[in-house]
Formats: sequence, structure tokens, C-alpha cells
Amino acid sequence: MKVMQKKEWDGNVAVGLFFKELSQSAKQFDFNGEIDKLSKDDDFSQKAGNIRVFDVLPKSKKIFAVSLGKKEDFDLDTLRQCSASVAKYARSLGMKEIATTLSENWAIAYESGLAVTEGTVLSLYRFEKFKREKGKTFETLFIIDKRDLTKGIAEGMILAEATNYTRELVNMPPSIMTPLEMAKEAKKVAVENKLIIKIYDKKALITMGMNNILAVNKGSSSEPRLIVLEYNPKAKKTIAIVGKGITFDSGGLDLKPAVYMEDMKSDMAGAAAVIGIMQAISRLGTDTHVVGVIAATENMISGDAMKPGDIVTAYNKKTIEIINTDAEGRLILADALSYTEKEIKPDLIVDLATLTGACAVALGNVAAGMLGNNQEQMDKLKKSADQTAEFVWQLPLWKQYKEMVKSDIADVRNVLKGYASSPGVIYGAAFLENFIEKTPWIHLDIAATSWSSEEKSYIVKGGTGYGVRLLTHFIRA
Ligand code: BES
Ligand code: ZN
Ligand code: ZN
Repeated sequence: MKVMQKKEWDGNVAVGLFFKELSQSAKQFDFNGEIDKLSKDDDFSQKAGNIRVFDVLPKSKKIFAVSLGKKEDFDLDTLRQCSASVAKYARSLGMKEIATTLSENWAIAYESGLAVTEGTVLSLYRFEKFKREKGKTFETLFIIDKRDLTKGIAEGMILAEATNYTRELVNMPPSIMTPLEMAKEAKKVAVENKLIIKIYDKKALITMGMNNILAVNKGSSSEPRLIVLEYNPKAKKTIAIVGKGITFDSGGLDLKPAVYMEDMKSDMAGAAAVIGIMQAISRLGTDTHVVGVIAATENMISGDAMKPGDIVTAYNKKTIEIINTDAEGRLILADALSYTEKEIKPDLIVDLATLTGACAVALGNVAAGMLGNNQEQMDKLKKSADQTAEFVWQLPLWKQYKEMVKSDIADVRNVLKGYASSPGVIYGAAFLENFIEKTPWIHLDIAATSWSSEEKSYIVKGGTGYGVRLLTHFIRA
């Protein structure tokens, strides 16, 4: 679909109204006082995103009166959400195009073009590859604004498309989106955007000593891959983003119960976000050297599968006692993180991983868990999170937590023994910290934010593409 700016417009149009106050355009379009009445209707106008449609004769033009909520609560994400309401409602009516004046309600021109575009394009995404009957399509949004919003619209389009692409990768069935297929997608993005790409196959991983990735891969009949994508290698500063790419997590011999396994094709959401970020970064540009690292494998069962009780020597030579084969994400990340630190030597590493179910218990699907060893960088990431509404919430990684990951018979163990309860998100991060020597590092646990079982405004069911807008913003800030 397209988003374009127009100075004037004479067709169907969406105008905003606040609780007890009209927007500029609402005043202009309120021919018979109906919109004014709506703004005084508590039920309608206190909650942002409600829409009432008026047919205006003689041209039978439709006016969407869109509630923006209370003026004092209005923020950039409300603008995204209201734009999503307009787009979805217009599409449901079978409209192919509509104009919107909602951007006028946000003072910063660039941001308002960005938010309207993101909210619209993200909300219209549907995973329909396997539907024989496709849904209604919407074609063009015209933004009516006196200011020049071109830059915000163009960047919003790139960010929303990259997010939707990540969603598509996550939504694909696991027997199609294998490690090999992920490598193909990464290659496609690399070729299209002139990125450097290196793909390491199983033989290479054996030579490199990536024994954790190989151990998790043992029960699978698909080969693992380590994928490295690079943008702008000559730049002074380097940021590496590392993604967990478990293309299906059965749990391994510690098999998951059926309900917990239902959505485990999404256990590669961190890796899919890395591919989306690399696409967005190369299309938007930045003066940073950005390296995306993906560890991809299935976590399956077979006679060869990794067993509880096994001890594996990681890439950095630390030994790991495997207590539970379902805590596999931290294993493949251990190799990917120490590889990234040693071989790429970045100034900062950020990892994105669907690491723990416990993250949903702690924060629900509203925010990702954030932990790391560098407060300054985490504070900076928090700012990007608030700006993009891909929220993060920091949990502590104090030295008191570091003891629990030690093993009696190896250097560390991947979980506590005997169903002992532990702070799950923190345990995961405390384990990972063993595979970072000195580089500033942030871990994002996206287990709950990367998948949505319900439709909420511009977040549709299935893969959410969480992290693409957040990290692209962070890298370019
Ligand atoms: N992929 C899961 C985490 C997960 C759970 C992601 C729910 C998305 C939704 C991860 O590999 C896992 O199984 N973690 C275990 C860790 C436990 C064995 C310490 C978990 O969270 O139960
Ligand atoms: Zn698991
Ligand atoms: Zn997993």
C-alpha cells in the first residue's frame, strides 16, 4: 500500500476529536454540530480510537470522526493507534483510499508523519500466504497536513515494512522456515541492500567449536546455521545485534506440553528481528557499523538428541552442565555472544531472544525484559523504547544473582536443579553474562512481546515484529 501527502482533498476523510474539544479539522468538517456532540459524549470520546462515520450529502462523502481521547493523555503512540483504527475501519468498509488529518494533532512534523504511516501500515498486515481466499485490500492513505511530512512518511514506511517482513518470517510454518530457509532470507536481504553476508554451515561450526549450537542441533534432521550480516564496515563505531533463531522449540527430551508447544515456531523471533533491522538500517542509513548475528537451529528429539546431564564445552571454552534441554536458547546464544565479542569486537552487543516464559509472568506482553552490564546504554535504549512504544523494563543483574548459575561439576549449568524456583528472566541473563568478557552488552528477553494471541490496535495476531523499530531507532539515535 501507499501513503502520500496531499495539500487538498475532496473525498472521504478522517478527522480527530478530543474529549470535550475538537481538532482543527474537526471544526472545519463539523457541518451540523454532530462531531461537537460526539466530543461531549463521554463513552465515545474518552477512549482513543473510537470511530463514527457520517455521510455528507450531496457528494455522499464519508467523514470518519475519530476519538483521540483526552487531550492531556494524547501521545505519539495514541496517534499510531488512532491511525490504525482508521485504516482497519476503512478497509472493513471496502474502501480503497481515505484521507486523514490526524497528523495535525502532533507538534513535531517528522514524528507525526512517521506515526500515522507506521500505525496504518502495521495495522493492515495480515498473514495470508496460506489462505486460499484473501481478505479485502486497502490501497492509499492521503495525509492532509500543511507541514512537509515527506521524511516521516518515507521512514515510517521503511520501518513498518521491515516490521511486517519480520512478522511474516515468524508466522511461516516451522517446517518451511528452517535454519536453511532463514539463511536464504538473510541472503536475499543482503543482496537487495548490498550487505556483506557470511553463512557458516555445520562443518564450519564444528571447526569453529560452536559446540552449544551443535549440541542443541543434535536431535534435529535440519542443519544449523550461523549467519553474519554487515552494514557499513568502515564506520568507527560498531554495534552488534545477536538473535536467537530456534526455528522450532519442542523442548528437546524435556519435551514441552502440547499447549506450550503450539506457538514455538516463533522461537526465532529474535533472529527474524535481526533480519528486519538489517533491512531497515540499510534502507534508512546510519554512520554506524552494524553487524547482525543469527544462531539458527531447531530444538528437537531423536536418539541423538542432547540429554540432561550432558556437559558441553562452549565456544569460549567454559563448560556447561545441561540440566534441562528446553533451556536451549541460552546455549546457542552463549556461543553466538562470545563469537561476536571475539571475532567482531563491537563497541556494544544487544541480543534479542525469546528466552523465558517467566518474562510473560514478570511483564506480560507489554514490555521486554532488559538486563545488561552497561547502565548508560540501557538508559539510552529505554529512551528509544518510549519513543517507538516497543517498551522495555529493566531487571537487576546484581552480583548476588551470579552465584546461582554455577554448577557442581562444570563451570555453569543452564538452569537450577530439581525444579528449584529461580527468577527465570534474571537467571537467563546471569547465565549469558558468562559469555561476555568485557564488552558493553544488553539482553532483551522478547518471549512475550514477540508474539500476540490477540489483535490490539496495530499489533495483529501472530508475530509482532517487536524490536525492529526499537533497535533501528536506537542504532540511529
Ligand atoms: N522458547 C522458550 C521460551 C518461551 C516461552 C518463548 C514461551 C516464548 C513463549 C525457551 O526456550 C524455554 O523453553 N524456556 C524455558 C526455560 C526453563 C526450562 C528454565 C521456560 O521458560 O520454561
Ligand atoms: Zn526451550
Ligand atoms: Zn526456546
